[in-house]
Amino acid sequence: MALIDLAEWRALADHASAQRETHLRELFAEDPRRGERMHVEAAGWYLDYAKHRITDETLDRLVALADARGLRAAIDAMFRGERINVTEQRAVLHVALRAPRSSAIVVDGRDVVPDVHAVLDRMSAFADRVRSGDLRAIVNIGIGGSDLGPAMAYDALRAYADPALSVRFVSNVDGADLALALRDLDPAETMFVVSSKTFTTLETLTNARAARRWLVDALGDAAVADHFVAVSTNAAAVAEFGIDPANMFEFWDWVGGRYSLWSAIGLSLMIAIGPDAFRELLAGARAMDDHFRTAPLRENLPVLMALCELWYRDFLGASTQAIVPYAHVLGKLPPYLQQLEMESNGKSVTSAGEPVEVPTGQIVWGTPGTNGQHAYFQLLHQGTELVPVDFIGAARPQPGLDRPGLDQRAQHDLLVANLLAQAEALAFGRTRDEVDAPYRVMRGNQPSSVLLCDRIEPFTLGSLVAAYEHKVMALGVLWGIDSFDQWGVELGKELATRIAGELTAGAPAGAHDSSTATLLERYRSRR
Ligand code: F6P
Repeated sequence: MALIDLAEWRALADHASAQRETHLRELFAEDPRRGERMHVEAAGWYLDYAKHRITDETLDRLVALADARGLRAAIDAMFRGERINVTEQRAVLHVALRAPRSSAIVVDGRDVVPDVHAVLDRMSAFADRVRSGDLRAIVNIGIGGSDLGPAMAYDALRAYADPALSVRFVSNVDGADLALALRDLDPAETMFVVSSKTFTTLETLTNARAARRWLVDALGDAAVADHFVAVSTNAAAVAEFGIDPANMFEFWDWVGGRYSLWSAIGLSLMIAIGPDAFRELLAGARAMDDHFRTAPLRENLPVLMALCELWYRDFLGASTQAIVPYAHVLGKLPPYLQQLEMESNGKSVTSAGEPVEVPTGQIVWGTPGTNGQHAYFQLLHQGTELVPVDFIGAARPQPGLDRPGLDQRAQHDLLVANLLAQAEALAFGRTRDEVDAPYRVMRGNQPSSVLLCDRIEPFTLGSLVAAYEHKVMALGVLWGIDSFDQWGVELGKELATRIAGELTAGAPAGAHDSSTATLLERYRSRR
């Protein structure tokens, strides 16, 4: 049955009409213990969802919708390796990448868990060798899921990384990206990790070819074997590029690009933080997997995040979601989550090929606090948009950052004071009675989650990222869309390839609209 025709959907719509104007001030006044009750804990994270514009009835109704949409069965199907990516007819098994050695997950009659651990073991041996060798720099060349995950996690876990090894991430086809990354590097001490699931991506292959020329110019052809490794599912393309498949780390088509951090795509990260810390990251994700698979929906952390997002998106009219980590090291989490959420759920056709009937996807954005407070928080406090916020923080600073004269603990207290203050101010605001001028009024009622862990470390980073992965999956099920394909990015790629051949003066220009044709001509005359 169509989503909006379900009795559970209609009941939510009625409930939303009655609930829409309710202020968080009223909800807290009605139930002073709301903040103690409305939380859940999983895999090292405490989620406070008391500052959401929901009541117990809202949650009951949202869970009833999730039941009606078969969320529990869909979760089980994903973990069993069913082809839930229907448009590409693929299993979706990033969870197998963190499955314990003793488990079995069968895809096309083959247990994939031994393959996963064989690659992890090869990666570990390689990472140990590099970490104890003479190299000084690792340059990861990849884009999208082959860049954002390891780059985000490397920043997040830099306190745990070997400071003698510089790890850099090059993604943009803009030559400035690679040039600036290489500017102070010595080819003899540099290793390139070319990461691409398909090994056909224009940006990655362009940068990888340029990097190879840079290396060969200095050290000759023979150096490629010792200074280039590849991470891919496409051994033939890797060999054609000139990297010996013996220097390739494999993954599989049942790993989506934006879900691939846990696979060999994490190689640069593993080299930086070491195999043990990488395995802790996997253990954190596995702990969240276990929670997602087994906890009742009403007490399920990723499911609660998904239900809140659906409530705002479809019933209260929000179109954006801010991610504000009060952890400077999580600065790349918002762009990572942009790909995870927007590439996954930015869809307007259901898995059955019908147009969706309700808004899907959220525009995800954000930057770390406290910096964001001095930039866009004004709009959150006094603007006209409903913007749910995810505040993310830790009770303790990361280890190893103490230096003479620096007081990590004291600064951390200030950081967390700001997190708590912002969540409180956004929720409760200031009424006209409390201030002396209308421009000081803050309407409040701006909802937020607060996600708190003891410390940002490999385990908690793994479980946090897995929580968002599962939130995205749950939303896809509720909306009836395929969260695991990305057909929308294809047209732009096709046109760029065509236009690239038309940019030099004299090259035949193809048929374009008048705006594109004029811009193209202007570029050709000025390049
Ligand atoms: O932009 C589309 C996309 O296919 C992403 O989904 C993917 O993460 C990225 O390109 C990179 O792809 P690849 O790893 O095949 O180079």
